[in-house]
Amino acid sequence: MSEAILRVSSLHKYFGDHHVLRGVDLEVQRGEMVCMIGSSGSGKSTFLRCLNFMEYPSAGRIELMGKVVGRESGARDGAPTYAYEERELVGLRTHVGMVFQQFNLFPHMTVMQNVMEGPVTVLRTGREEATERARENLTKVGLLDKADQYPSRLSGGQQQRVAIARALAMKPDVMLFDEITSSLDPELVGEVLNVMRDLSAEGMTMIVVTHELGFAYHLARQVLFLYEGVIHEQGTPDEVLKNPQQERTKGFLAGFTDFYF
Ligand SMILES: Nc1ncnc2c1ncn2[C@@H]1O[C@H](COP(=O)(O)OP(=O)(O)OP(=O)(O)O)[C@@H](O)[C@H]1O
Ligand SMILES: [Mg+2]
Repeated sequence: MSEAILRVSSLHKYFGDHHVLRGVDLEVQRGEMVCMIGSSGSGKSTFLRCLNFMEYPSAGRIELMGKVVGRESGARDGAPTYAYEERELVGLRTHVGMVFQQFNLFPHMTVMQNVMEGPVTVLRTGREEATERARENLTKVGLLDKADQYPSRLSGGQQQRVAIARALAMKPDVMLFDEITSSLDPELVGEVLNVMRDLSAEGMTMIVVTHELGFAYHLARQVLFLYEGVIHEQGTPDEVLKNPQQERTKGFLAGFTDFYF
């Protein structure tokens, strides 16, 4: 039976006068992978950042695991606005893991220390249990043998896999991936996508912003095409990537010459 783990309705985000997200609706079922595509500046990162409240939505409702986040405080653009309390958000962010394009590992900590940091400092997990969990997650991403290395000694692909292990250590319910292979050398992209594929196969709920259309085609359940802050086209990978209906989706996809199904 499917269960909505995330429901977003009429999400708006302004930066000053700049109306970046203009009413985004999305429902994600537990265990499903959603891939989001779209041109630079269309609002993909902003959308992900709103989902874990690194940015506060300007209006619109976010419901995570059946619970509306924040307290309704008014209305804007025909959508309700919410007041957020940091206290609520701190707890919530532990349920929503995020991995970025830039690796963001702590350079002065070993791989092991990077993966243990969140559980120890935020979740107050004991060191023994945190170590055990870190070993499990490093095994999952194939990097247990690098546990005592510093990030600067690792390849970009390895650093990105450590970043995934670090996010997993918080036992998130949803994982957000923001173009995490975009700055990797082509030969390192596959190792990171494989880890994501395995994670999805294990039932992790994932929202993935990516330019890897082959990956999206084969693994996503839904594909979203974001255009100027709205979901311009949405559907199965076949619908959106193979038989897009909208001219803008077609135009965007035409830019990918090296994409084969
Ligand atoms: N903190 C911010 N302050 C002001 N403007 C911002 C901020 N973050 C993003 N923007 C603007 O919002 C718009 C959408 O940016 P966003 O980073 O979400 O796009 P994107 O789809 O992720 O693009 P890319 O593919 O280049 O990563 C851009 O015009 C950007 O300049
Ligand atoms: Mg972005």
